[in-house]
Amino acid sequence: MKILTVVGARPQFVKAAVVARALAARGIEEALVHTGQHYDEGMSGRFFSELGIPAPWRNLGVGSGSHGVQTGRMLEGVERAILDARPDRVLVYGDTNSTLAGALAAVKLGVPVDHVEAGLRSYNRAMPEEINRVVTDAVADLLLCPTKAAVAALAREGRLEASGVRCVGDVMYDAVLAFGGRDVALPADVESVAGRPFALVTCHRAENTDDPVRLAGILEGLRLVSRDLPVLLPAHPRTRVAMASAGVDAPAGVHVVDPVSYLEMLSLLGRASLVLTDSGGLQKEAFFAAVPCVTLREETEWTELVDVGWNALAGADPARIAAAAQAFLDGRPRPPRPDDLYGDGHAARRIVDELEAAARA
Ligand code: UD1
Repeated sequence: MKILTVVGARPQFVKAAVVARALAARGIEEALVHTGQHYDEGMSGRFFSELGIPAPWRNLGVGSGSHGVQTGRMLEGVERAILDARPDRVLVYGDTNSTLAGALAAVKLGVPVDHVEAGLRSYNRAMPEEINRVVTDAVADLLLCPTKAAVAALAREGRLEASGVRCVGDVMYDAVLAFGGRDVALPADVESVAGRPFALVTCHRAENTDDPVRLAGILEGLRLVSRDLPVLLPAHPRTRVAMASAGVDAPAGVHVVDPVSYLEMLSLLGRASLVLTDSGGLQKEAFFAAVPCVTLREETEWTELVDVGWNALAGADPARIAAAAQAFLDGRPRPPRPDDLYGDGHAARRIVDELEAAARA
């Protein structure tokens, strides 16, 4: 069996790293296509070297652009790659434009496409990520779900086990177990904040960065939090650009640094008192590290984290952000932390089992 994997953005490198290991362990050939959606050393190159991901078989070098331009270029490049590599199946991850392009190119060539992180829903169609995952799930052969909630969401849409839905667990949990707990030297500007109690923040969703009112609300919320705890914000390039074009600076207690690598992020999570984020992945990584999380959105795909009391939705409203942070920092005992929400750390192996079973069918 030959698998063609399509990745392009930071979180996908982490997920593909653990599945690449599981494929290799089973002797399955994998051709990795990097769309080039993320291209900086800090957003892409370091992830490959740090996580030991094999060099891409092909890099499409697509880069930035409007959704139509970016996705269109990817579609053309992935189609060519599938024709050249002749894989048995195509594997895509998550909800980015690279996911959508990989899925559409494969299905139109009649190659089965399998979706890792299927079934996640925010029910907010204004998010490009929601469109990407709904369309990808609609055309995918195997829907490889990380949680029971994702399986239930697909069932509500009429997709059941008979149509390829499988609950395999979350590969991001596998990744934390595989790569966590290492000694990592942090850059000096990061260490100077993370050397004492601090709040770790990421913010890059278009719905937040590209709306000046929401961006200003989040920065004001962070200013309020920084009265209790210094705030460390490793900033996605999109966020820096948005702050510059809105003409806003980070408040005094909010330390903006360059994006950190995956191992640096895990190390920071091991020390942070609180996480505030609009990222999907970081909400779970905070939970794995037993750090409470304030989510800078109106909804989350990871609803189970809110249900168990480790995640609070605060949107972009300064008072809600400050109150949610305060509630987690007031010294009350933390709620129990169930250890079965995201599988048992063997999601990658289960994904490979499912790919092999589907290829035999
Ligand atoms: C994408 C995903 C999002 C994911 C995120 C992870 C889509 C629609 N969104 O958002 O789901 O959570 O990746 O980071 O696919 N840029 C650089 N260097 C890079 C990459 C990007 O400077 O290496 C800048 C460019 O100015 C670009 C902007 O960041 O225009 C946004 O990048 P883009 O790939 O459009 O989406 P993300 O915001 O990263």
